[in-house]
Amino acid sequence: MSGTETASASLFTPEFFQDPHSVQAALRAEAPAREVVTPHGHRVWVVSRYAEAKAVLADPTVRKNRASSGAATAPDGAPDLSRHMLSMDPPDHTRLRRLVTRAFTIRRIELMRPRIEEITADLLGRLSPGDKVDLLDVFAFPLPITVISELLGVEQEDRAEFRRYSNALISDSGPEEAQATVSWMAAYFTEMVAAKRADPGEDLLSALIETSEDSDRLSEQELVSMAFLLLVAGHETTVNLIGNGVLALLTAPEQLERLKADLSLLHAAVEELLRFRSPVNMSTFRFTTEPVVLGEVTVPAGSTVLVGLGAANRDDDHCEQAERLDVTRPPSGHLAFGHGIHHCLGAPLARLEGEIAFRSLLTTYPDMRLAMPASDLRWRASVPIHGLVELPVVL
Ligand code: HEM
Repeated sequence: MSGTETASASLFTPEFFQDPHSVQAALRAEAPAREVVTPHGHRVWVVSRYAEAKAVLADPTVRKNRASSGAATAPDGAPDLSRHMLSMDPPDHTRLRRLVTRAFTIRRIELMRPRIEEITADLLGRLSPGDKVDLLDVFAFPLPITVISELLGVEQEDRAEFRRYSNALISDSGPEEAQATVSWMAAYFTEMVAAKRADPGEDLLSALIETSEDSDRLSEQELVSMAFLLLVAGHETTVNLIGNGVLALLTAPEQLERLKADLSLLHAAVEELLRFRSPVNMSTFRFTTEPVVLGEVTVPAGSTVLVGLGAANRDDDHCEQAERLDVTRPPSGHLAFGHGIHHCLGAPLARLEGEIAFRSLLTTYPDMRLAMPASDLRWRASVPIHGLVELPVVL
């Protein structure tokens, strides 16, 4: 790829989804940020170098709340799932994050460890060496959805339907499908909050409802939006930490052997896999309220910005030979979980799930291999998420 036009024009095309990293390398070489047009015709600035990406994420003048940019919000009465912390700025963000942090404690996550190990062993125990399976279908999807569903208190029988809608939400679906999905999810979570209110349990949603009954309350709409955010953010991403990570290891056999020979590297390896094939390739939208200077580029006030987390994580100015997977690399502050006040709230849970998943896979199925050439694998057509459609392997 050569020239400004080509690299920018390739963003969000089918070729980009198949291989975002080479397009992003070209973008990074050209400029710290570029204005491009999305498939839906929106003009956005994409930031692709590490230092500038980090700066934008920490800049208090770059806002999350769409209303602050003068753009339209959901009309009155329409289902609205956007009253969650990832679409808010201080002081609203501070308040919501504080309330959820009180319920979603490190202790609650650590208590999940034996249960995550059990779910993992159960899923892998249903399979045998030599089986040919889609690893996403039999393992990478059910693990995180089961964990986050149990944490929140979602019923087992609702999970398949939930997967379908959740998938539609992050894929490149049209506005009608998106609206139908939001309506379904809003109705689903409204019912769930009502059910937990009537019959509280030990789950996180019940804890969030209780938190709301202190002097500072989470409104009904905030609870529904929070449940939605946790469930979607909690599984669409972790699925791809496992899927992308397994693929990265299977296509770098010497790295895989190194890790299998010394599982004490696992903690650092999970960070390296997050850096190398970041499940959230681009941040959610942000809006500039003042001109933002990024190296030689100035993003004007009133612009929409996407931070290229996956692009930033492969910037050689951030870590040496960044396009190379190295499971022994000491963690160096990748942006896979974002940065600043919206840094991923679920990062400790995602890391715990990742470590348990990789350890169990590598010890239970040490001879696992790809069942088709890596170049034939298909990737999802999603702007925020970098993840496979399926991952056929022989165990
Ligand atoms: C925010 C990545 C797992 C809950 C974020 C952001 C990223 C991210 C990049 C910031 C987005 C932005 O600033 O535009 C990931 C990755 C995961 C993961 C790569 C797995 C490997 C989880 C899990 C949960 C979760 C398991 C919950 C159980 C959240 C929440 C926020 C968030 C609530 C919003 C925080 C805020 O606005 O203050 N995540 N996430 N994430 N994530 Fe995660």
